[in-house]
Amino acid sequence: MRTRVAALREIALGGPADRGVMCVHVPFPFAQGPCCATSSFCYERQPEFKETRAMDHFLYKDGQLHAEDVPVAEIAEAVGTPFYVYSSATLTRHYRLFHDALSPLEHLVCYAMKANSNQAVLKLMASLGAGVDVVSGGEYARAKAAGFPGERIVFSGVGKTVEEMEAALTGGIRQFNLESEPEMRRLSEVAARLGVTVPVTVRVNPDVDAKTHEKISTGKSENKFGIPIAKAREVYAEIAALPGLEAVGIDVHIGSQLTDLAPYELAFNKVAELTHALRAEGHDIRRLDLGGGLGIPYERSNTAPPLPVEFGDLVKRTVGDLGCEIEIEPGRLIAGNAGILVSEVIYVKEGDGRNFLILDAAMNDLIRPAMYGAYHDIVPVMEPAPAAERAPFDVVGPVCESGDTFTKQRNLPPLSEGDLVAFRSAGAYGAVMSSEYNTRPLIPEVMVHEHQFAVIRARPSYEDIINRDSIPEWLEG
Ligand SMILES: Cc1ncc(COP(=O)(O)O)c(C=O)c1O
Repeated sequence: MRTRVAALREIALGGPADRGVMCVHVPFPFAQGPCCATSSFCYERQPEFKETRAMDHFLYKDGQLHAEDVPVAEIAEAVGTPFYVYSSATLTRHYRLFHDALSPLEHLVCYAMKANSNQAVLKLMASLGAGVDVVSGGEYARAKAAGFPGERIVFSGVGKTVEEMEAALTGGIRQFNLESEPEMRRLSEVAARLGVTVPVTVRVNPDVDAKTHEKISTGKSENKFGIPIAKAREVYAEIAALPGLEAVGIDVHIGSQLTDLAPYELAFNKVAELTHALRAEGHDIRRLDLGGGLGIPYERSNTAPPLPVEFGDLVKRTVGDLGCEIEIEPGRLIAGNAGILVSEVIYVKEGDGRNFLILDAAMNDLIRPAMYGAYHDIVPVMEPAPAAERAPFDVVGPVCESGDTFTKQRNLPPLSEGDLVAFRSAGAYGAVMSSEYNTRPLIPEVMVHEHQFAVIRARPSYEDIINRDSIPEWLEG
């Protein structure tokens, strides 16, 4: 049987190897050995974990970081820095972990494309048989363009507009997850006008503390999401009386980057109770959308996040005997550790009492540290010598904001101008949250597949950016 650590490694996929020994930076407070300067542990010392070797698709080989079989430096040479690179093997693996975890229940893993909505990533997910969770008309259009059939597209989001509803109702949709009563009535009007009946679930807010960052917690009564669970029966009764809507299930999503199953358990138990109550009132509840949110290991000191298989067991335990089809909407766990952001050191600046590593990537490329105080492991692309001395650096970008700081006083091996570094765990909520602040072009995205790589979003030129603006007539000379 695989060990828990082995399974975690498959998700973490995260660490620099040491001389081919796979000294992996495992971000958990166990099995840490003194074999390298950053409290990682070595598989050499933990032979039972060796089976996970093949699972990390961002590894040092021959002294340099590879994405699958492609040297990262080779990609940098071809596309310039900074850029994102995604491993298709990791994306595939993570989708399958969820798929397997829910089997044999009837289920659909609806990839939450908000995490990473590049068309190539979506195409890969569609080809694996995934469904997709969209939260805007733009995401719906992306899903269709990537080949997802309507019956595998779930429409979530707190403020769906009439135009978005019409697009999905005419283009095909599996279900709308309703977030409020006004939205429910609006969708009823639109569906009735178009002469269709659309499957819906109600996103219930179970008032559960997901114990995650306040900006990504969504299941408490004070959050803007969903309908209070205590009001759900009333809302389902109204749906039954409205034209154009058919209530087929219940939806819940309590937050993102959850590192504990307990809040899920509370929420799913409430959903199970509600299922019984609604069925007793004659509603044919046959689908449960349990949302996403399972966390990934970003940092060595993190508590071990639950595994998809543990999540799957919880689902089976709490709602598995209701005979419902299960939908889940994972984003971060599928894409997060499937991507890295690669950047070049522009300057090493000696400050007053601290040294700065000034990179060509900035907060506009990866906003998570500035927005959530998020941690990303930063590693040199060229493997440092095992005995290399580490020194503390503030790692910053060139944007004119003090918030453009990726990390402060991080111990890093020696780095000089022109060296490449990689931010790990950057595949989710990275490129999708980027902007062109300071007129910095959106950075390229690259996908690797074994020894091949392809640019899946090119860097726009300054001209492309400038030409998107237009000058009103009265300002034309
Ligand atoms: C409704 C909904 N479903 C799924 C997700 C995906 O969450 P995660 O990427 O943490 O799995 C989110 C993100 O917060 C969400 O709002």
